[in-house]
Amino acid sequence: MVKEKFLVKGLGGKKTLRGGVRVQGAKNAILPLMVSSLLFQNEIRIGNVPRIGDIESMSELLTSLGATVSRKGEVLAISAKSVRSSVIDDEIAKRLRASIILTGPLLARFGHVVFPHPGGCVIGARPIDFFLSNFEKMGAKVKEDSGLYHLEVAKTKLKAAEIFFHQPSVTGTETFIMTALLAEGRTVLENCTLEPEVANLIDFLSARGAIIRGRGTPTIEVEGGEMLRSGSAVHEAIPDRIEAGSLLILASLCGSDVTLTDLRSTDLRILIEVLRDSGVPIEVSPSSIKISGNGQIPNSKFKAFNIKTHEFPGFPTDLQAPITLFLTQASGESIVFETIFEGRLHYTNDLVKMGAEIKMWDAHCVMVKGPSVLSGRELEGPDLRAGLAFIIAALVAEGNSVIHNAHLIDRGYEGIEGKLKALGAEISRAHE
Ligand code: EPU
Repeated sequence: MVKEKFLVKGLGGKKTLRGGVRVQGAKNAILPLMVSSLLFQNEIRIGNVPRIGDIESMSELLTSLGATVSRKGEVLAISAKSVRSSVIDDEIAKRLRASIILTGPLLARFGHVVFPHPGGCVIGARPIDFFLSNFEKMGAKVKEDSGLYHLEVAKTKLKAAEIFFHQPSVTGTETFIMTALLAEGRTVLENCTLEPEVANLIDFLSARGAIIRGRGTPTIEVEGGEMLRSGSAVHEAIPDRIEAGSLLILASLCGSDVTLTDLRSTDLRILIEVLRDSGVPIEVSPSSIKISGNGQIPNSKFKAFNIKTHEFPGFPTDLQAPITLFLTQASGESIVFETIFEGRLHYTNDLVKMGAEIKMWDAHCVMVKGPSVLSGRELEGPDLRAGLAFIIAALVAEGNSVIHNAHLIDRGYEGIEGKLKALGAEISRAHE
């Protein structure tokens, strides 16, 4: 892999970005849709698919299992008809957490699956205990040997179960919806997450014959049966609320007239509410958001507020880093409480080095005092979401910044520098 970095020229607090940006399709909606190909006798087609690292990695994983994956423009076609292997590639699976979603459909279809502990962003322990215990409930035997999990179904088919998630889990909910579709009987999943990406998966599967009840509620019932048949219809992936939300925060801090299009504002309710209450001038329509501001950030007098990350419709943990950055530019004290992951506030050390006033109380909680003038510097992008927050911080700051680990940002955002340049930002990409 060629290592790259971003070079960013700070706006020094001036709000000069102008123009329109189209929001991409949602990474975390597309990854489970891709996995669902394993439930189908024929090809599935997904539209609005961005060119990003995690989708490449998932394509490689499916291909290594025997599936065929092809792309025409923004449409991805996947046929998993000829998949015969249920051994998940160790090296690729360690690149992305979403590889864990493959385990359920493979186990349900073939009666066995072998996989490593999944990788992905380093934001906490990220255990897989819910997966293992619930597969056992459905009739699988679990063995761990030299870092690999071997799961085997004792009888020929997985059986339905009553599953209660100890904590709502996005990939857990998605995995067990799909696993239950190929199990024997009716599975009941309780304490599920309500994320739009889960609803999108249910819509996709239901439109293709699956019987799933309880969409949009914490209790989901799934009728097990045979493999599904897909028509030729393309399923358009929902817009990426995390990309949209990060750009909305960028526009609030650096935009004089920025319009984000192709989004779903209902998926961004909480962010719109907190920004509006803080004093950001936002105009919202169902599929676009406009920010019109002017002047300098220190004169904007955004009001400070507290944030507690939560499952949907609460404040998304994936927007925690950009909103913390926003709070460094708001007047007053804020508390940011990260409730989902215990390793997702370390990036704040770098914001402090840029001039932000942030005190870490413990692994889950920081206090931010603003507004602070930030200065550009060299930053190591720690993960995908905090990486984009660093780009936004670099644009807010005075002077130049270098953000290393561009590949982490490329895992989730297609051509981010192109989108920012179109708004007038000075950002480029260079080899390390
Ligand atoms: N958890 C367990 N045991 C498990 C599974 C989860 O204790 O077996 C805990 C986690 O440690 C965490 C909580 O449950 O404390 C919720 O985690 P969840 O399982 O919902 O996270 P995930 O499914 O692994 C997805 C997204 C993440 C996003 C989280 C929370 C995908 C592919 N990933 O992860 O997205 O942060 O939900 O919304 O959908 C990203 O895109 O950058 C990203 C990290």
